[in-house]
Amino acid sequence: MNPLHALLAAVLLAAPLTAHSESTAERDARMAWWRNARLGMFVHWGLYSGAEGVWDQKPFGGGVEWIQDYAGIPADDYAARLKPLFRPKPGFAKEWAHLAKEMGAQYVVFTSKHHEGFALWDSKVSDFDAHDVTGRDLFKEIVTALRAEGLRVGVYFSVIDWHHPDFPVKNTGLPHPLTKSLAKLPSDPDTGRSLPRYVDFMHRQVEEIVSRYGTLDVLWWDWSSKETQGPSWRAAELMSMVRQHQPRIIMNNRLFFSPNVEGDNLGIFDVAKGDFTTPEQHIPATGTPGVDWESCMTLNGTWGWSEHDFAWKSAETLVRNTIDIASKGGNYLINAGPRVDGSIPETIQVRFRELGAWMHTYGESIHGTTPNPAGAVPWGRITAKPGRLYLHVFDWPKNHQVTVPLKSVHTVTGHMLADPQHHAIACDVTANGIVVTLAPQFQNPYASVVVLDLPPAK
Ligand code: GLC
Repeated sequence: MNPLHALLAAVLLAAPLTAHSESTAERDARMAWWRNARLGMFVHWGLYSGAEGVWDQKPFGGGVEWIQDYAGIPADDYAARLKPLFRPKPGFAKEWAHLAKEMGAQYVVFTSKHHEGFALWDSKVSDFDAHDVTGRDLFKEIVTALRAEGLRVGVYFSVIDWHHPDFPVKNTGLPHPLTKSLAKLPSDPDTGRSLPRYVDFMHRQVEEIVSRYGTLDVLWWDWSSKETQGPSWRAAELMSMVRQHQPRIIMNNRLFFSPNVEGDNLGIFDVAKGDFTTPEQHIPATGTPGVDWESCMTLNGTWGWSEHDFAWKSAETLVRNTIDIASKGGNYLINAGPRVDGSIPETIQVRFRELGAWMHTYGESIHGTTPNPAGAVPWGRITAKPGRLYLHVFDWPKNHQVTVPLKSVHTVTGHMLADPQHHAIACDVTANGIVVTLAPQFQNPYASVVVLDLPPAK
């Protein structure tokens, strides 16, 4: 190439990489479905699902999708032992989609590739993928099944890759299984490894996903450290490439480490980057005002399936977390870890279905709501829609009355959301706020819901 052509090529290549610019109205329109959804299902499934939290008879606790790291397993050994176990049963993806729908979720985020590096699609730049093991394109099966149920499609993608021979072992601030055996390795494990080369490969893998499978709704990046983030991933270029293929996609902030870390492992990604922030395993006390957020949580203590973790959250916790998060303006992404054959264990299904039964009756108090405008209440949580409040009563008072601390209200009418007749319940405007008398026949053990209609003051 002559220098002029080289320059021209560089300019053309750089052009689409300029900063993403979008008006507030455009952004609101793009985010609208996601903000309305409030509830999503996370699915962690890969080769690790076959290990079930045990390696060489030794059980591991915590998130066992990390077992390769926990047990310090070299990539070849890991692949050789787990590939033969990976035999997805036909139709598994339809079961996921059906369950998500039953649960009341409006989107599903699934692990297209976790830290182990095993891709669920047929990657042309790697043979460490499900197609090479099963002859099937599992990515396609999953997105097809989700769309058939009317669910939005979210794709989790790990930029950490423990299989790729270029992914550095040391000094990245990121985990790597080989750090466990550093002392025993014959030579420096990073000799010959190159993060930039890995990043080229990673960009190509991402482009495969975003260009082949039609519209994807969410790209859920995972994750970064202080040392390896943003520029190390060529994140601006990566996100810009994704947006060229998927102009309306919503991406999280995990390509960017937070500049103000306070040392906890939960809020470590930059809230000013990406479309939403990702508190993990917790609910921020007052949400993250001005920033879209989604709390992701395990159902027990692990994301990937473990045969020995029985610390299941109750359906009551799922219902109340859903409400709590909605009342603070966030989304709840609750995880299922299928077995290696893709089936979702009954224990998980039962809990999701119970959440779904509650959502079936009370979902309008969750989907499409905005945060509590009335202030904290001791008896539960509040969500809102224009001209309307939803009172979620967790602790039903003995006198059947709850007070909403709203002053200068003129007229208000109320009914129990579960009452098909919408019989009016007493709502008295007092100096302390609105005193609402609950109808005991519509009490729900997880959360009872009152609809309060508050016409705007004249
Ligand atoms: C983490 C973990 C991972 C899990 C994820 C979900 O950072 O590394 O195993 O997939 O977050 O939020």
